[in-house]
Amino acid sequence: MIELRHVSKAFGGHLALDNLSFKVQAGEVMCLLGANGAGKSTTLNILLDFITPDSGEAWVDGVNVQLEPHKSKQRLVYLPENVNLYQEFNAIDNLSYLARLCNHVPELNDIRRALQKAGLQEDAWLQPLASYSKGMRQKVGIAFAILRRSQVLLLDEPTSGLDHSATREFIKIIEQLAKQGAAILMVTHDLYCAHTLATHIGIMKRGRLLDVFANQQHSLDSLEYLYHQHISGITLEKTA
Ligand SMILES: Nc1ncnc2c1ncn2[C@@H]1O[C@H](COP(=O)(O)OP(=O)(O)O)[C@@H](O)[C@H]1O
Ligand SMILES: [Mg+2]
Repeated sequence: MIELRHVSKAFGGHLALDNLSFKVQAGEVMCLLGANGAGKSTTLNILLDFITPDSGEAWVDGVNVQLEPHKSKQRLVYLPENVNLYQEFNAIDNLSYLARLCNHVPELNDIRRALQKAGLQEDAWLQPLASYSKGMRQKVGIAFAILRRSQVLLLDEPTSGLDHSATREFIKIIEQLAKQGAAILMVTHDLYCAHTLATHIGIMKRGRLLDVFANQQHSLDSLEYLYHQHISGITLEKTA
């Protein structure tokens, strides 16, 4: 569903991604961990066709991102770290407007159902987004993914700035989408969220995946230990 094949990308002689390959299948949640500058956002930007790789291929739901960028964008929903949308519109108008931009005229009932599934409290639906917390704006973004029946979700630091209960709520909603067959790629610094939510965890450093493993293999403590070992470079790097 989401795949990078031997992707490299340099910015002015600095290698941001170094022959990076991985796959996220339907029903999986892959969390990419790594220090600042590891190449996590560049990975998402390539899948979004915001930047072009120097070599290698990116695939979204069976579509080659660089060859068919318009089609690949229709297959995914991207939640940036801060979901801004139209501050003066309410949640229903935002979703209706965004869907129309994608040539989809949604029924009001479908919008209401999507907001309900995304867990946004009903008394906020007609309030302007300017009055929303980060967690609430994010739910509108998730409702958009539900409304579009998107099977691919790309999330950049979705839990930064959320309190613990909003993080738990977010985890539950994303788990539900994965159970229904979505492939989810999430970039995060939040080890708790990664450990609770991920089916797979990848640790990135200097544009490479040092390690990818099934999350169930580790307790939160051992994940934390492993992460710091990799990031501080104590262990030998595995070749991807
Ligand atoms: N548009 C850009 N122009 C120049 N350098 C960039 C650009 N985007 C990212 N980089 C560099 O590429 C590396 C990886 O960045 P990034 O993917 O943003 O890391 P992360 O999201 O893991 O913090 C960093 O060294 C960063 O400075
Ligand atoms: Mg980043």
